[in-house]
Amino acid sequence: MLIRQPPAVPSSEITDESVYLQRRDFLRRAGLAGAGLALSPSLAAQLTALEGDTAPLEGVRPSPLSTTQPPNSWEDITTYNNFYEFGTGKGDPARNSGDFRPRPWTVQVSGECDKPGTYHLEDLLAPHALEERIYRLRCVEAWSMVVPWAGIPLGDMLKRFQPNSRAKFVRFKTVLRPEEMPGQRRSILPWPYVEGLTIAEAMHPLAIMAVGLYGRLLPNQNGAPMRLMVPWKYGFKNIKSVDSIEFVERQPISSWERAIPSEYGFYANVNPEVNHPRWSQATERPIGAGLFADRVPTRMFNGYADQVAHLYQGLDLRRNF
Ligand code: MTE
Repeated sequence: MLIRQPPAVPSSEITDESVYLQRRDFLRRAGLAGAGLALSPSLAAQLTALEGDTAPLEGVRPSPLSTTQPPNSWEDITTYNNFYEFGTGKGDPARNSGDFRPRPWTVQVSGECDKPGTYHLEDLLAPHALEERIYRLRCVEAWSMVVPWAGIPLGDMLKRFQPNSRAKFVRFKTVLRPEEMPGQRRSILPWPYVEGLTIAEAMHPLAIMAVGLYGRLLPNQNGAPMRLMVPWKYGFKNIKSVDSIEFVERQPISSWERAIPSEYGFYANVNPEVNHPRWSQATERPIGAGLFADRVPTRMFNGYADQVAHLYQGLDLRRNF
């Protein structure tokens, strides 16, 4: 039986999901979803303060890019996770990530850009408004969820580093801390976890760096303090606890691609027509729908085809899986 560790936030502190959703609808009706203002200095500080874990994030703006599908519960999203740095079981990240320290946090920016350097998380976030993005998440293992993230458009962050014309790809890396991440003491995957995007994918308005969930800071098991969210790709592209961003000329090799290249490719676009070598990708199991609920058809690019299909024109998606 799984022993569930309570979320990092005491449940009394978590905004009730129905209250959270009502507030969001109110903001939308009141037309407060407008073009973003920068984070207030207090919010930037809150995102990085050691004692900031439990406070609700202020000023998170609704986005027209959100799905209207109802989100999964906090419980689903924070106890059914993949984060192999904390173990391979779905409950392991919630159970084993209590010693992980996501604040203070710095990110190394390097490679083909004019503004490389080591940036404090609060400086990375300060010029941007936080947006709520309710996105479908489709794991390559054929389960899915709907998650209300808070984050900033990835492209807006990356442009500030002024990538040059040789920057064709972006390579992201997760922090390497075996002393805090027990899974990294075993060779489950080549550590640290690495992922990559083409520069066009990284600049697409749907791609975000998420720092929050359900109006709160990200819990450790969901990739605190900052994780990628690219909703048209399989979940494993959404690298957690990012501490390095590198602009590169050559296509990076991700951890899963390095581990099992015949099963996990660089693109990893959700595609019901290209099966995993060991299972079908035609349907998926929505988490939270109950054990006996029907599977639902998987949608091309996870339902975001209208927005992203143009990125892959002329590319053979069977070969570039
Ligand atoms: N990032 C790191 N660093 N390590 C991981 O094991 N798992 C990936 C992705 N990001 C993973 C990771 C996979 S397989 C999925 S499906 C998503 O995170 C799961 O995100 P969630 O637990 O927030 O739902």
